[in-house]
Amino acid sequence: MTALDIDQNQMDAILAEAPASDAQASFTRMQDGTLEDWKIIGAAHKQDFSKTADRFIGMLRQLEDATLGFSCDQLQHALMCGTLARRSGASTEHIVIALCHDIAKVINVPNHGPIAAEMMRPYISDDSYHVIYNHQAFQGEHYYHYLGAPTDLRKQWEGESWYPLAVKLVDDWDAPAFDPDFEVDSLESFIPLMREVFHDAPRPL
Ligand SMILES: [Fe+2]
Repeated sequence: MTALDIDQNQMDAILAEAPASDAQASFTRMQDGTLEDWKIIGAAHKQDFSKTADRFIGMLRQLEDATLGFSCDQLQHALMCGTLARRSGASTEHIVIALCHDIAKVINVPNHGPIAAEMMRPYISDDSYHVIYNHQAFQGEHYYHYLGAPTDLRKQWEGESWYPLAVKLVDDWDAPAFDPDFEVDSLESFIPLMREVFHDAPRPL
């Protein structure tokens, strides 16, 4: 069973309905909802899935407003990270997670890894999810000694299937990606890849 404890066939049947795009549920209290209401809501949700990629793209653009004391803004950092991933021959998914690994800094910096991982979870592999969730702990190897924190946090995950990807993303793409003069690939060049990953059929969790 999924965390939502749903019957996927029943969910698919609800999402398969296609009522008029301006249809709205009739209830004002969820306690009074009917199956017809939920068919309308399900169809509207399905239509909304097609906006996900644009939302990620919009959030990436907002990173330009966050420099956070680094030598380049967070959009340059994201684009450099994605560019390094692409030039190393990474898969589309790995390029996109590299590009978006810090995207949740738009919302909340201290918890940005877990937030970004959860945002992307319905669209990426479990390995990629764990990499993004824990990337800051891996990054700590490069600076946590300045904060009086342990630098070997990554050791606890050495046997995990996603460990090598985390090391690659953090050490090869993320950590070196703070050069304001590096000629990055444009955000527009990544959009087709983002649309491929953040498609309109998120997998149920
Ligand atoms: Fe980063």
